Amino acid sequence: MCGIVGYIGNRDAYPILIKGLHRLEYRGYDSAGIALINKENELSVYKTKGRVQDLEEFSKSKDITGNIGIAHTRWATHGEPNNVNAHPHYSQSESLALIHNGIIENYAVIKKELLQKGYTFQSSTDTEVLVQLIEYIKSTNQCDLFTAVQLALNQVVGAYAIAVLERGNPNCIIAARKSSPLVIGIGDDEFFLGSDASPIVEYTNKVIYLDDEEIAIIERGKTEPKIVTISNVQKTHKIKELEMNLSQLEKGGFSHFMLKEIFEQPETLKNCMSGRVNQEATNVILSGIIDHKEKFLEAKRILIIACGTSWHAGLIGEYLIEEFCRIPVEVEYSSEFRYRNPVINSTDIVIAISQSGETADTLAAVELARKAGAFVYGVCNVVGSSIPRNTDSGSYTHCGPEIGVASTKAFTAQVMVLTMIALTLANQKGTIKQEEYEGILKELLLIPNKIEKILALNEQIKQLASIFTYAHNFIYLGRGFSYPVALEGALKLKEISYIHAEGYPAAEMKHGPIALIDNEMPIVAIASDNAIHEKIVSNIQEIKARKGRVIAIISEGDTEIKSMADHCIEIPKTKECLSPLLSCIPLQLLAYHIAVTKNRDVDMPRNLAKSVTVE
Ligand code: AGP
Ligand code: GLU
Repeated sequence: MCGIVGYIGNRDAYPILIKGLHRLEYRGYDSAGIALINKENELSVYKTKGRVQDLEEFSKSKDITGNIGIAHTRWATHGEPNNVNAHPHYSQSESLALIHNGIIENYAVIKKELLQKGYTFQSSTDTEVLVQLIEYIKSTNQCDLFTAVQLALNQVVGAYAIAVLERGNPNCIIAARKSSPLVIGIGDDEFFLGSDASPIVEYTNKVIYLDDEEIAIIERGKTEPKIVTISNVQKTHKIKELEMNLSQLEKGGFSHFMLKEIFEQPETLKNCMSGRVNQEATNVILSGIIDHKEKFLEAKRILIIACGTSWHAGLIGEYLIEEFCRIPVEVEYSSEFRYRNPVINSTDIVIAISQSGETADTLAAVELARKAGAFVYGVCNVVGSSIPRNTDSGSYTHCGPEIGVASTKAFTAQVMVLTMIALTLANQKGTIKQEEYEGILKELLLIPNKIEKILALNEQIKQLASIFTYAHNFIYLGRGFSYPVALEGALKLKEISYIHAEGYPAAEMKHGPIALIDNEMPIVAIASDNAIHEKIVSNIQEIKARKGRVIAIISEGDTEIKSMADHCIEIPKTKECLSPLLSCIPLQLLAYHIAVTKNRDVDMPRNLAKSVTVE
C-alpha cells in the first residue's frame, strides 16, 4: 500500500504533491510526509502521523518552497503509525530522503550490518534501512546516487516502489520499483511520479509504467526519464496515453466516494458491456477469450484466485461457469494458493480477479500459475496495472477509478465480466442452448435500469439503517447465487462500520450459528427469487421461531416472505444467475448508511487501504 508522489519541473512542487497525496490517500492514511529541495539546495523533510490534512497543518509555518519534491502517505507494515516512522526517511547525514511502498524483507540483516558500521536508526521501519544502505554504499564507493541506488537494490529482498532525493541535487529524482506500482508522468519540461495515475492525470496524459527491477533517473531539462534495470540493462518504454479523466477522481456532489461509486453502477455496468454484448442481445464477445479460444476449449479445469471482495466475485464466477460451461471450477484465496503447493496443470486456466491489479498475493499467485504452465487470464479494473501486464490474456472491468476503500462498483463489474466469460465460453463450447443464451443476454442488458430502481430505495434503506445501529453483530444469509452475496454484504458492513458480521449459507445455520440468534440479532436474508426459494423461506421461519430480527431482500411481489420478515427491501425480478448484480446493491447501501450513522470514516476505514501491495 502507501501512496507515492513526486514532482520535478518549474512549478512549486508543494501544492502538486499535496493534491497528489489527497488523491492517493485511499492507499494508506497512517501518516503523511513530504521532502523538498529549495532554491538554496537545502533538503527538508516534513512529516506527521495522521492524514494529509494533518501534514498541511504541520507544514504551515515551514519553508515549503522548491520545484522538486517527493511525498508519501503510509500504510504501516513495520513500526507503528507515528511521526518518526512516517516517510520520507532521512539517511544518517540527512543528505538523502527516501519514500517507499512495499516491504524490505531482509531489512533486519542489513540493519545489523549497518549498526556494526556505526549507523544509528530513528525509526522502526524497514524503509529507513534502505536509505541508510544507499548512503553507506554511496560514501564507501564514492559513486553517484543512481549507482548507489542500483547497488543497494541488488542487496534488497522484497517489494519496493521508491523515490529518492539528494541534498544539493535539485535536478534529479531517482525512482525504482519491484512488485509495487510506479507511474511516471511526462509533461512539458516537467515530470510527475505516482503510485497510480491519479496524481498525474490533471497535468499530463502521457505516462510510462515502470517494470519490475527498473530504476528511472528523472532529470530536469530532459524530455524522457532514463530507465536502467538493477542489473544495468538500458530500457526504452513506449509512452502510454491515460484514459482516465479528472472528474472520475472527484466526488461529484456525493458526500463520499463510496456513495458516488454505488450510484455509478448503472453506468459502469453499461460501460462494462459496451462493445461486448450486442444491442439485439444475440451475442456476447470477449476478445480475451475468443483470441485464445483453443486454450479455453481444451481447459480441463478453471482456477479462480483473488482476495476479499474480488474473491466473492470469484465464487459467483464458479457458479456461473460450472452452470453454463460444465467445466470444474475451484476458487481460492490468492494468499493460500501461493504458499500451499497447489496442483496446477498446463490444461488449467487460472482467472485472477483484482480491482487494483496490484494486490501482492494475487500477483504472486499469478506468477506461480504461469511458471507451472497454466494459461492465466486477468479480470482487472486498473488499466496498465501489474496483473494485466503479467497475464496471458484478460478483460478489463472498465468501471473507472474506484476510490472508496470498500469495493462496490468494481464488484458488480467483476461479476458482469465473469457472467460474460461464462456465456462466451458456453456458447463456444455449445453447452448452452441458443434460447437460454439469448434470454440471459436480454436480461443482462436490463440490469442497469433495474439497478436504477434499487437506487431509488436509498431513503428507505437509510431509514432502515438507523434502526440497526445498536447492533454489535449481524448475520447475512443466502443460498446458491445469493451465498457469495451474503459474504460480500457482511464484508461491506464490517469494513466500514466496524460491526462484526458473518456471511453464511442459509442452510448451514442449523449446524452451529443458529445458537447466536436472539431477539437482538439482525439477520439479513438474501431471498430474491430462486429455484430453491421454499428452502430459504424455511430458513427464515427457523430464525423467526428464535425471535431473530429479519431484514429480507426479496423480489418484487413476494408476499410470503413479506409476511414473515421484520423488514423487506423489494428488488426487481431477474434471472437467478444474474441476481447477485441486483441483490448486492441494497447491501452496499445498508452498510454505507449504518457506517455514516455511526459516524465512521466511510471512504477511509481504520486499518485498511485500497490496494494491498504487501503480503
Ligand atoms: C473490499 O471492499 C476490500 N476493501 C478488499 O477486500 C479488496 O476487495 C481486496 O483487497 C482485493 O483487492 P483487489 O481487488 O484490488 O485485488
Ligand atoms: N514498509 C514500509 C513501512 O512500514 C512501507 C509500507 C507500505 O508500503 O505499505 O513504512
